[in-house]
Amino acid sequence: GKHFTVTLFPGDGIGPEISAAVQTIFAAANVPVSWETHEISVANVKPGDPLVSREALDSVLRNGFGLKGPMATPVGKGHKSLNLTLRKELALYANVRPCVSFPGVKTPYDNVDLVTVRENTEGEYSGLEHVVVPGVVESLKVITRTASQRVAEYAFKYAADNNRSRVTAVHKASVMKQSDGLFIEVCREVSELFPNVEYEEMLIDTCASALVMDPSRLDVMVMPNLYGDIISDLCAGLIGGLGLTPSGNMGAACMLAEAVHGTAPDIAGMNKANPTALLMSSLMMLRHMKLAAKADDIERAVHAVLKEGKYRTGDLGGSASTTEYTEAIIDKMSTGK
Ligand code: IPM
Ligand code: MN
Repeated sequence: GKHFTVTLFPGDGIGPEISAAVQTIFAAANVPVSWETHEISVANVKPGDPLVSREALDSVLRNGFGLKGPMATPVGKGHKSLNLTLRKELALYANVRPCVSFPGVKTPYDNVDLVTVRENTEGEYSGLEHVVVPGVVESLKVITRTASQRVAEYAFKYAADNNRSRVTAVHKASVMKQSDGLFIEVCREVSELFPNVEYEEMLIDTCASALVMDPSRLDVMVMPNLYGDIISDLCAGLIGGLGLTPSGNMGAACMLAEAVHGTAPDIAGMNKANPTALLMSSLMMLRHMKLAAKADDIERAVHAVLKEGKYRTGDLGGSASTTEYTEAIIDKMSTGK
């Protein structure tokens, strides 16, 4: 079979521990992946150096796959986020965040199954802000036909390939008439090419309320950058939080799977962190490599461990360490002990 090399950015805080958990599980599952690790962190950037080195970027582009732990965001003006730099430099135009209920993880709803597809390169995240005069700031939201079209196409293709019935374009074109107006205009055009997928448009405020009152009302959602940031966290909250939810940044040349949660400096190095989100993201990557059988086996084991409830990390009300939870997952895999 095929062998893959994956660029690993362990990240800051709990990043190295949860990355090690994923590596241990992959090894136990005989996943045909080897790792190329790059320690990118704001802590390592010397003055005058780029935030992410050329070698690190080239590694992802060469391998086609990357896995990224949480990264500390630099504080202060004039410092860009590593996350945003990676998305921009690697042209990762669609951010896909599926939120599916985990058996045994108690939340107000049992059968949540939602996917946020977020435009990942422009919108409110274009980084174009300036002080006009003291006390007045302008911030530019950039919406282009090109970026809107490729993310809309991604959402519809995702829906079609994954047997999902509907794509909802989430917007606020009632106020952002031109920018969100263009976004939904393009979504509408793309929808015509996918007659087997239902299409609808929904205002973002309506959508937020609908998601909280009845998550089954929505299916696949596509939206501009900032809205996707917020709605994907809302969806994560519906299934138990950011410690569980996967995320994949998709580009034409590569995919970067990531954990969306923070670096949790308060528990870093203490063998307490929950590696589930990074692991679930890495399973998205395996499915992309067409290693779905491996992904399914690991996912079944995760579900079994969480359902049983004996080995859960502190964020889920348990007392298992990262390594105990990892071992429990391995025990439940078909390749396990
Ligand atoms: C996320 C994060 C990032 C974002 C931050 C860290 C820049 O919240 O991946 O959702 O807003 O995109
Ligand atoms: Mn976010």
